[in-house]
Amino acid sequence: MFSKYLSIAFLFLLNFVAASAGRGLIVPKAVVVSAHPLASQVGVEILQKGGNAIDAAVAVQFALAVVYPSAGNLGGGGFLVFRKMDGKAFTLDFREKSPAAATKNMFLDDDGEPRAELSLFGRLAAGVPGTVEGMVAAHKRFGKLKFTDLLQPAVELARRGFPISARQANELNNERNNFIEYNSGSCAFLSMKAWKAGDTLYQPDLAATLERIRDNGRAGFYEGPTAAMIVNEMQRGGGIITAEDLRNYNVVWRVPAVGTYKQYKIVSMPPPSSGGVALLQLLAMAETKPLAQWRHNSVETVHFLAEAERRVYADRAEYLGDPDFVNVPIKGLLDKKYIAQRLSTISPDSATPSDEIVAGLPPNIRTKAHESEETTHFSIIDADRNAVAVTTTLNGSYGAKTVVAGAGFLLNNEMDDFSAKPGTPNAYGLIGGAANSIAPNKRMLSSMTPTIIEKEGKLFMVLGTPGGSTIITSVLQTILNVTEFGMTMQEAVAAPRFHNQWQPDRIYAEIGTFNRDVRTSLEAKGHEITERTPIGRVDAALVLPDGTLEAGADTRGDDAAGGY
Ligand code: DON
Repeated sequence: MFSKYLSIAFLFLLNFVAASAGRGLIVPKAVVVSAHPLASQVGVEILQKGGNAIDAAVAVQFALAVVYPSAGNLGGGGFLVFRKMDGKAFTLDFREKSPAAATKNMFLDDDGEPRAELSLFGRLAAGVPGTVEGMVAAHKRFGKLKFTDLLQPAVELARRGFPISARQANELNNERNNFIEYNSGSCAFLSMKAWKAGDTLYQPDLAATLERIRDNGRAGFYEGPTAAMIVNEMQRGGGIITAEDLRNYNVVWRVPAVGTYKQYKIVSMPPPSSGGVALLQLLAMAETKPLAQWRHNSVETVHFLAEAERRVYADRAEYLGDPDFVNVPIKGLLDKKYIAQRLSTISPDSATPSDEIVAGLPPNIRTKAHESEETTHFSIIDADRNAVAVTTTLNGSYGAKTVVAGAGFLLNNEMDDFSAKPGTPNAYGLIGGAANSIAPNKRMLSSMTPTIIEKEGKLFMVLGTPGGSTIITSVLQTILNVTEFGMTMQEAVAAPRFHNQWQPDRIYAEIGTFNRDVRTSLEAKGHEITERTPIGRVDAALVLPDGTLEAGADTRGDDAAGGY
């Protein structure tokens, strides 16, 4: 088995390298695109055994928890968008929830200032994990194969080990001090010598946890020995998740966020992710401009999108939060007249300083007080053209850095996605207010944007990405790259990206995104530009006009596509 996965990994890399010039991997029937070649291969094998897209998604998620521990997870949460072959769409919210003992000011010091180290590192940073229940629920509603068969590949990868990539070796070495500081004992990620590419990562504790989930489903995680290990870990210091929190955790099937862009129908994730609503607002604004004529990353295009983005992120900060706690005015935010009014404040000549922008007043708001870098995405299309987009996260890379002792998986640090104090930025520089304040059993606002697109009633594209606040704008640009700028799926994923999130007031851009002329012209309009490290890792799939499938696997990571 182990050598089988090694040779498969090699084949996949070959496949991918061969495919990366211009076009991505092209396959006739089914495709899996994920952050790791072994996880993609697990998904393809499940599809070839007769599993559908949901079966493959469950198997890929559990495999990523093993082979991509920085973000693939058991201890985190996420969102799943599913489009059945008949066109019906479903979204599953398996976002973490705050523990019952969480309080509004739990991350503030005596002077009322946020203590970011508490919301980012260690046990208190963790929300109640949602991933396992999410996978159980998705499988129960739509899966075809036996749940045990979907877990088995992950169990074997954890027990027999897998070879880490150069990138992973680097990350594990960089995190060494954090793993020592935020764990009471040793863990699989700590090695006596420095990690190097090709070293085998064995995770026997994780294998045992996966076996308990394999054999007992939800109870294998939220009850019994695994739950006891989580609670014990909390009691080692600072943590507040209780056995009751774990027992009470629930996922929610939500009404998808749906809109149109030209002849395309967009199906995305509603709150508690801000992703779907923000993406639909941005596309509604983009639809009014001749982007194709303006061209990709031209001064006009970048200026307009940056201006649209700063307005949408201002709305996000004001209105978006857990819909089970606050009234999110989705209809109003997507109302055509409201969009037109927001657009009317954009000048073609100059950037509006973010300090001059506040959230708009969408219709049907009763009062303004309406209170009532690490994630991973994978895209799958099966042979029947069922499609699934899953984005899942621990929040930061390796989450809270704390491994649940004996259980072998990392705790998330998702509590940092709440607004610890109104107006104070979180780890992604995002600002929020009452709508995203901490309360017991509440879901923290997300930017994750798993999205499925239809063209003229047929499946067209499946996509999503990690990247914190930049997720929404990366998904937007990838869609526009294909629909407006004529790129292949692979080119659309590879193209350089930029991002504006209202506050701080600047355009972030990957190094080399703008040539000197474009940069000078943007600066002349009043944009401050900051170059930064890679933005996002989009993994996407596109149905080509002849019915074949093209994968877009992001070369910013070890991401890889497989299919048949
Ligand atoms: O839910 C969110 O929006 C964040 N926790 C996602 C974090 C993320 O994408 C980090 N990846 N680079």
